[in-house]
Amino acid sequence: MAEQNAGILGMGHSYPEGILTNADLEKIVDTSDEWITTRTGIKQRHKAAENEYTSQFGAAAARQAIERAGLNPEDIDIIVCATTTPDQIMPSTGALIQKEIGAVNAAGMDVFAACSGFLYGITMVESMIRTGQIKYALVIGAEVLTKYVDYTDRSTCVIFGDGAGAAVLGPVEAGKGILATKIKSDGRYDEQLYAPGGGTKYGTSHETIDDRMHFFKMKGNELFKIAVRSMADISVEMVGKAGLTIDDIDIVIPHQANQRITDAVAQRLGISEDKVYSNIAEHGNTSSASIPIAMDECIQSGKIKEGTTVLLTAFGGGVTWGGTVIRF
Ligand code: ACO
Repeated sequence: MAEQNAGILGMGHSYPEGILTNADLEKIVDTSDEWITTRTGIKQRHKAAENEYTSQFGAAAARQAIERAGLNPEDIDIIVCATTTPDQIMPSTGALIQKEIGAVNAAGMDVFAACSGFLYGITMVESMIRTGQIKYALVIGAEVLTKYVDYTDRSTCVIFGDGAGAAVLGPVEAGKGILATKIKSDGRYDEQLYAPGGGTKYGTSHETIDDRMHFFKMKGNELFKIAVRSMADISVEMVGKAGLTIDDIDIVIPHQANQRITDAVAQRLGISEDKVYSNIAEHGNTSSASIPIAMDECIQSGKIKEGTTVLLTAFGGGVTWGGTVIRF
């Protein structure tokens, strides 16, 4: 059977109404708007309320993506939800979103790859569509990171925000869709960004709670350098694999980790700043949700249209990273 190109048919995004500004954080930890802005580019982040949770935002983004793809929830064959902050340990957030949106014919599952999760999902379903195993896939990046953030740790609590983005993928005509995609990890850096408590190694106990082991811990400075190198290298590799040069890329959408990481990646790639999308000032770092939220904003504002060639690149805890080139 001839192989079928897989592309994005529709996208959506959603985030909590609640906002946590840098001024709000100044009242919680020893920080300043000036430090956060110059070191990260972040001015505010969306924050879920106590009664809000990950699958709600994932489902809202998914509904929008399915509608914009001109499909119905029953058309979806697989739901891959990338999240590091699931509603609960079981069932998967993908299955919970399936129930919520009524995608009765799908298989729902989660991918646990931190900020690279959306590209992990895209890469998995691309081959399933290309080989004809499935027709339509829903890939979601959804996070409520603020519930895992330690608001006594100023080095992490200023960075993360909440939200979700979703894409429906399906067959597209030759020359369009995903031209190249690859995911990677290096588990040797497992303690650069981690939340050790609550699993089978350090089961939940008074001790794990007292030691704040359920919150994210990050060696930001060391991650910074690995992130820049990994994102730039895989970008170059994927642009080449797509048979393109960096000048053929119309827009780069990197994981929104830190504005300085984005700027350093752009500099390494030799691509002008106006081709690199950033929304970190408004959203902060939303982990697996950051790329699909940014992509949907670009589609809605007309920055991505028919014929636009997009480079996506991500990096996250694990460590994990990935790169994807898509032509719309
Ligand atoms: N306000 C004021 N001062 C602060 C704050 C804060 N919020 N946070 C840290 N500082 C201080 C530190 O204590 C340190 O002080 P010292 O020199 O007296 O010890 C100083 O600022 C410098 O700290 P650094 O950690 O070196 O600051 P850096 O410039 O590296 O910025 C940051 C920290 C923003 C975390 C940055 O390293 C970063 O973004 N790293 C990459 C994060 C990343 O990519 N993560 C992976 C993806 S996310 C995911 O997978 C979920």
